[in-house]
Amino acid sequence: MRPNPPSDPPTDAKADAAWSASIRLFHWLVAVLIFSQFALGWLAVGWRLSPTKINLFVWHKSIGMLILALVAVRLLNRLARPTPPLPPDTPAWERAAARWSHALLYVLMVAMPLTGWVVNSAAGIPFRIFWQFPLPALIAPDKQVAEIAALVHFALGLAFVALLVLHIGAALRHHFIKRNNVLTRMLGTRRTVK
Ligand code: HEM
Ligand code: HEM
Repeated sequence: MRPNPPSDPPTDAKADAAWSASIRLFHWLVAVLIFSQFALGWLAVGWRLSPTKINLFVWHKSIGMLILALVAVRLLNRLARPTPPLPPDTPAWERAAARWSHALLYVLMVAMPLTGWVVNSAAGIPFRIFWQFPLPALIAPDKQVAEIAALVHFALGLAFVALLVLHIGAALRHHFIKRNNVLTRMLGTRRTVK
């Protein structure tokens, strides 16, 4: 690796590094899909029994399975790419909070589709992803399991919302209060840190 030339600014140059383009692409694509998932999930559950309700569920389950596939690729990509270090003045508790909350976000991005898949299997509902590909059942139909899995899916959804409020709050705090580059390096824009 090229050593830093003596003219480099005294700030931690690596802390200014952005996330790679593929990590940013996955982050924002999956974020948009997950926000749509909450809207579709709650709309579908609340809708009166009609073809629209069924279509809302097909969209919800299809996009959910797409998220599962994208997150699998995203995780591999994430492990293969360097992580830009946090600004040098970040306290230890914040570093730990960032590490653990990001890990938990990944767990939820996988657990939500999996529990949804279990609900769908246990409810014995035949379903084709985007009206095309039949989704194999993970388990045999069982009404009680379907009810428990739906409860778990719902509870994990609430935990996900709470964690996202923290995550987005932390990003905004970095940008507007601490005035560092943590948000801009995920947006792919640049900020001159004083
Ligand atoms: C990141 C992915 C997902 C998110 C964030 C998500 C979120 C939600 C939310 C917020 C609800 C409404 C919960 C309620 O009010 O009871 C819901 C319901 C539901 N979701 Fe998902 N979901 C995801 C993936 C999936 C997948 C992949 C499937 C199936 C293949 C699925 C199947 C269902 C079903 C069947 C319900 C209705 C449960 C019930 O009858 O109470 N979800 N989902
Ligand atoms: C469903 C929505 C979201 C999910 C699941 C999510 C998940 C994640 C994860 C797992 C990371 C760690 C980086 C990685 O491993 O890819 C991350 C980083 C980040 N996210 Fe999100 N995110 C979401 C929405 C948002 C939103 C709406 C914002 C901004 C308002 C945001 C701002 C950031 C920032 C600034 C980072 C970089 C943190 C750092 O530099 O260490 N995220 N996000």
